[in-house]
Parts: sequence; C-alpha cells; structure tokens
Amino acid sequence: MAVKIVALAGSLAEQSTSLAAARIALEGAAQAGADTEVYDIRQLDLPMYVPGTSTVPDAARALCDSIYRCHGMLWSSPLYHGTISGSFKNALDWLQLLSDRQPAYLTDKVIGLISTAGGTQGLQAVNTMEFVVRALRGWSVPLVIPIPQAWRAFQDGHVLNESLAAQLRTLGAEVARAAGHFASGRLTTPDASRVEAALQPVSDAEVRRAP
Ligand SMILES: Cc1cc2nc3c(=O)[nH]c(=O)nc-3n(C[C@H](O)[C@H](O)[C@H](O)COP(=O)(O)O)c2cc1C
Repeated sequence: MAVKIVALAGSLAEQSTSLAAARIALEGAAQAGADTEVYDIRQLDLPMYVPGTSTVPDAARALCDSIYRCHGMLWSSPLYHGTISGSFKNALDWLQLLSDRQPAYLTDKVIGLISTAGGTQGLQAVNTMEFVVRALRGWSVPLVIPIPQAWRAFQDGHVLNESLAAQLRTLGAEVARAAGHFASGRLTTPDASRVEAALQPVSDAEVRRAP
C-alpha cells in the first residue's frame, strides 16, 4: 500500500518560497512511492480559528479530513519575527478539529519540517513547528531543512540551487520511508496514550507546600 503524504505549506504571499520548497520535498516523497497532496496556506484562506465554533469552513474540514487519512506530512513555514507566520499557526490551530478523532490529532503520523528565511538562518521556525508536532502527538523526522536567504534560492516558484533541491527531495523521501514503517503497525496503543494522561505534573505534597 502506498503511503499518503500531505504538505501544509506557504504564506499569504503571491509567490511563496516556503510553498515552492514543500513542492520539491513532495517530489521526493512521490519518487519514494507515496501519494501526495499539497495544501497551500494562501489558497486555504482560513479565517481565524475560534474555539468551539460551529462555523467550520469547507477548506478547514477538507484539510483535517485529508490529514486524518494521511500517514505523514511536510510542514513548510516562512520565518516571521523569529517564529512561524501567523497564517501558518492559524492553519495549525484548525487541526483542533482532529481532537475527537480516533486516534486524535497526529497520532503516529510522521512530519518533515522546512522553513524559509530572509536572513541567515531559519531554525527558529523549525523548532517552533517541532513543539507543535509533539503537542499534536506526531513524530518529526530528525532531518530538517531550514533555508536561509530564500530570496537567493528561489525565483518565480522555481529552485535555483540543485543541492538544496536534492536536500528537500531527501526529506520528502525520508518522511515517506518513515511513514511506511509507522503505517505497518500502530505504535501508539490505547495504553501508551493513557500514559501521558496519567502523569501528574506536580505532586499533591508539592501543591500542599505552596503558599
Ligand atoms: C512579517 C515578516 C517577518 C519576517 N521576519 C523574519 C525574521 O525574523 N527573520 C528572517 O530571517 N526573515 C524574516 N522575514 C523574511 C521571510 O522569512 C522570508 O521572506 C521568507 O522567505 C518568506 O517566505 P514566503 O516566500 O513563503 O512568503 C520576515 C518577513 C515578513 C513578511
């Protein structure tokens, strides 16, 4: 069975380097035998997520249904003010719709992380995304691609640097490979997911000692 890899990528910019980077990584996933799909942040055009809202746009529903069915994802955000962009974070907030699925959120899905920056490094966006992957019970692959000075690497949606393209395709292939392993046997059993719920952040004794 081919694994399904979904990319969530881009910005509200008309020409997005983070979207272009994700498309290349998806090529690598496809070459590794995966079925692929891309969700472009600009095209999604999502309103701000409102907790508990009963008004769910079709785009948010389609995104969440597709993510629920997929085995792995590629996330690619621009670096904005030292973190991910607001529009990318808002798209991630809409994944709250996956909270009551079985299994919830991104359980046992493999995520590859990419960022594009105007300056000399984009790792902060990758690190921020990794926090979100963990919060949503996903697993990020060790290889990450933070792209510095993206304006030098892309032009009109095309990559100018073949070694960068090769790195991105490697990431896509790695996500497809790891997702295939995860798909062959469920790792997070109901017992495993109860472990975290059973953890006590602070002991009763510590609470009693508090003034
Ligand atoms: C609001 C805003 C904030 C930004 N902040 C940073 C930053 O903190 N560091 C940096 O290196 N680049 C920063 N940039 C540049 C973007 O990271 C860079 O242009 C990126 O490639 C844009 O991705 P996109 O082409 O997918 O829109 C910022 C750009 C904008 C519009």
